[in-house]
Amino acid sequence: MIPGTLPPVLTIDGPSGSGKGTVSRRVADALRWHLLDSGALYRVLAHAAHAAGIATAESGELIRLARTMPVAFTRTADGEERVLLAGRDVTCAMRTEECGSRASEIAVLPAVREGLKALQRDFRRPPGLVADGRDMGTVIFPDAALKIFLTASVEERAQRRYKQLKEKGLNATLHSLFQDITARDERDQKRAVSPLQPAPDAVVLDTTGMPVAQAVARILELARTRFIQTVPGH
Ligand code: C5P
Repeated sequence: MIPGTLPPVLTIDGPSGSGKGTVSRRVADALRWHLLDSGALYRVLAHAAHAAGIATAESGELIRLARTMPVAFTRTADGEERVLLAGRDVTCAMRTEECGSRASEIAVLPAVREGLKALQRDFRRPPGLVADGRDMGTVIFPDAALKIFLTASVEERAQRRYKQLKEKGLNATLHSLFQDITARDERDQKRAVSPLQPAPDAVVLDTTGMPVAQAVARILELARTRFIQTVPGH
């Protein structure tokens, strides 16, 4: 890295169930870059607020929590990702659909988004960062070297979520997931601040019917054309 320049960022934005989580993790592993799961920060904040009895309307308390919550991302010896809040493992609690809906409710608050900005930008470290979210390419890292916007049909996204939750032993019905995803998309796309939309310079990738490996390969191919020196194994 040239002194004074910031480490490169690759942003992967898109709606719930578009495959962002899995694709971002695999791209980060292939590049050997850091990963920011920004949705996890909104979920942890929603979880922490709920546990502390802070209502969505109490925006002052929410911002204070957003700026000070002691959140840490770790991996177990067998590579499983864990999220810790004040040292307590909250991974399961924050992955529920209920927590996801609460996260999307607090995500409409401009002060909350502002409060989480610095925490998200702190993840930008050498050799580079893959940032997964809704506004990574538009607001948090507008100078990203490569911006991807992943989409898929609502039906396919509900199916994927259903499979994921079942695998984790969590309860859900396909119908409720479909409704939940539709409501969440609507809230994410229509909010006044940082609405979910592709950055003008983003590459839009529709993953309906596309295997994860193919989406990852396409993104790595794009990365190779933009920052060839930093893609290991190519
Ligand atoms: O990606 P995930 O489903 O974990 O995100 C949970 C919620 O957090 C989303 O529905 C969205 O409302 C919010 N979010 C956001 N901006 C981000 C990441 C997540 O508004 N960058």
